[in-house]
Amino acid sequence: NEIYANGLRGELPRLPMAFADLEARAESALPPSVWSYVSGGAGDEGTQRANVSAFARWGLMPRMMAGAAQRDLSVDLFGMTLPSPLLMAPIGVIGLCTQDGHGDLATARAAARTGVPMIASTLSADPMEQVAAEYGDTPGFFQLYTPADRELAESFVRRAEAAGFKGIVVTLDTWTLGWRPRDLATANFPQLRGHCLANYTSDPVFRARLPKSPEGDPGAAVGLYAGVFGNPLTWDDLPWLRSLTDLPLLLKGICHPEDVRRARDGGVDGIYCSNHGGRQANGGLPALHALPGVVAAADGLPVLFDSGVRTGTDVVKALALGATAVAVGRPYAYGAALGGADGIVHVLRSLLAEADLLMAVDGYPTLADLRPDALVRV
Ligand code: FNR
Repeated sequence: NEIYANGLRGELPRLPMAFADLEARAESALPPSVWSYVSGGAGDEGTQRANVSAFARWGLMPRMMAGAAQRDLSVDLFGMTLPSPLLMAPIGVIGLCTQDGHGDLATARAAARTGVPMIASTLSADPMEQVAAEYGDTPGFFQLYTPADRELAESFVRRAEAAGFKGIVVTLDTWTLGWRPRDLATANFPQLRGHCLANYTSDPVFRARLPKSPEGDPGAAVGLYAGVFGNPLTWDDLPWLRSLTDLPLLLKGICHPEDVRRARDGGVDGIYCSNHGGRQANGGLPALHALPGVVAAADGLPVLFDSGVRTGTDVVKALALGATAVAVGRPYAYGAALGGADGIVHVLRSLLAEADLLMAVDGYPTLADLRPDALVRV
């Protein structure tokens, strides 16, 4: 309505309304190596494409006269009531997408303006305390790339707790680099250029490991980061991870039901079903296909989902397949590229408006109405 009302006054939306246009405009706006990093995926990107196309295999069955004139998209998550089931997935090095280099702060400001929580990446251009200070009343989550140095991992979690984050998301699928031909072709791995190591270089444990301050010897800081980043965790590490915090603990990158069971047995509070947007492993299995099995094995534990969500209808379909909440990655990064915090707000509001309208027109007034039988295999 807002857009049409503006249109009557001759004011057109400044930012693209369709995902394809958003993507095309972001490509023109970003330097080629940044575009490759943000938009690219593993191998021939078959998994990445399959993530997106998997949504087209499901259709929402319309229901009429269903009392959907008012919708309620709110969701309870870890004792909090969120206004909508949408989250922003962690995006490391999002600073590359914004002109001022502070994409993490832009994302946090967009979270404050929309109520859509940000999951703040470990790989940030600004320390987590500064990111958290921009959230306003919107809850935030901290995503942990678990350093091989346990004391450093513990320090990150302590800082996240002190900064007021409401949960810790441990990403499991990125302890090593994925085979990403587009990044390989530009020999571009932005982490190693050091733009995104603020959480490390501001950390007392990390600083104590260096002979000189990271400001005095940035090369040594990057070297130390590279040495501790990769930590191939095993299930034997889960009790330690669990012991790090009383905050809700989620494991990200889970697709196999057996892994869900092990996570549950280890006392996690939530499962985050994702294949990292097809950036880590190729092979063609869309994350959406894993979702129903994950939900069944989670047996009531909250399940977050991401990978391939491009539209509000995708959000609704993932909810109907059992996700408690749904995250987007690249779409909001493209919004950041086109307009910083304003661009991210535009993308989030568009996703939410589309989801809300679909629920109105198809007759699903609340998230509880979106059950698997609302979907038909196409
Ligand atoms: C990511 N992702 C990611 N995940 C994570 O746990 N920590 C991180 O630092 C990053 N960094 C990152 C950078 C970039 C440029 C992208 C595109 C993605 C993965 C992200 O959280 C999410 O799983 C995917 O982006 C979801 O897929 P879509 O929405 O991009 O298809």
